[in-house]
Amino acid sequence: MSRKIKTLIDEKTLKKRVKELGEEISGSFNTDKIVVISILKGALIFTADLLRALKIDAELDFIRLKSYSGRSKTRLEVTYRPEIALKDREVLIVDDIIDTGESLEFAYREVVSKGASSVKTCVLLDKEVPKRTELRPDFVGFKIPDYFVFGYGLDLNETLRGLPYVGYFEGEQDG
Ligand code: IMP
Ligand code: MG
Repeated sequence: MSRKIKTLIDEKTLKKRVKELGEEISGSFNTDKIVVISILKGALIFTADLLRALKIDAELDFIRLKSYSGRSKTRLEVTYRPEIALKDREVLIVDDIIDTGESLEFAYREVVSKGASSVKTCVLLDKEVPKRTELRPDFVGFKIPDYFVFGYGLDLNETLRGLPYVGYFEGEQDG
């Protein structure tokens, strides 16, 4: 039986918030050229819109993480590293969603290890669940309940990334 998709955040609301984030982020940097590192693949669509909402110029690069789920902890590995030299650069890391926080922290450490002079982080969605790390994103689009969500770049087993809104399955809110 196919499950009914419900809208959690509609297109208009996403657009408005991304515009606000672009302004907020631009005003927080002391340089007029930053480096945006987008975490593949989930952050692709959010990054494309956020980049156009920034008031400062940004070089764009990517990082790709692969996770292996163990019994209690997820093991992460970098499978694509940014090509732009990050030494002494002001960097903004962009991800689609923060859940446990492990992915964002992993990407953060990777960027710091390349000698960036400042590293800020932005996520579109923050799931309201206990985090396993200390790092908290500097910019958050929306706080959301603990639902599995998809669309606007986020996938459900590599499907539904192209939905223009953030959705979830009916019944998710009942547990
Ligand atoms: P974390 O490392 O536990 O914070 O998980 C973050 C990563 O897991 C994100 O970059 C997403 O790729 C993925 N993820 C977490 N929650 C969801 C979800 O509800 N839908 C789709 N992907 C998710
Ligand atoms: Mg991801």
